[in-house]
Amino acid sequence: MDDVALMRALHVLAIVHWIGGLGFVTLVVLPLAAAEGRLALFEIVERRFSAQVRLSVPVAGLTGLWMAWRLDLWESFVDPASWWLAAMAGLWLVFMLILFVVEPRLQARFAGLVRARPDAALRIVTFAHWGLLALAAVTAFGVVGGVHGLFAR
Ligand code: HEM
Repeated sequence: MDDVALMRALHVLAIVHWIGGLGFVTLVVLPLAAAEGRLALFEIVERRFSAQVRLSVPVAGLTGLWMAWRLDLWESFVDPASWWLAAMAGLWLVFMLILFVVEPRLQARFAGLVRARPDAALRIVTFAHWGLLALAAVTAFGVVGGVHGLFAR
């Protein structure tokens, strides 16, 4: 069996779950919560989703590392010509930090902010989600374009 093809398929599956969910929360759940003044809706959805991405994000990282090892791509990660490899690793690192370091520490404080100043809480999460979604979109576009020769000179 072609292990790299298998890892690529699992990698993309994990990415679809993770970035697709981020898009749904940013583009559907957050505007709905804002329009109806129901931040609790966002909190419930986000809690469930973040429990799930605690699996898909590590799977994306492990399968990506497997491919990097098998295809011997380590030097390309620091080559500006294949910037999308560094972008993938950077985005993954940011999410790992958010999910396993920042979120567990700030959860209680954020719940307090939601109760005390819901408008400010909404502004912060909207800004953060749009920023992360934009980075993810540029990265996904860059990776598939880069791997398939879109930026070749
Ligand atoms: C530690 C994190 C990551 C590592 C080490 C990694 C590594 C890799 C490697 C080595 C490939 C194969 C590249 C090639 O065939 O030349 C790949 C493919 C891919 N990666 Fe990642 N990746 C990571 C995270 C991400 C993230 C965060 C995204 C989402 C934006 C992503 C999206 C993709 C996609 C869509 C492909 C398939 C490209 C294609 O075959 O058309 N990866 N990744």
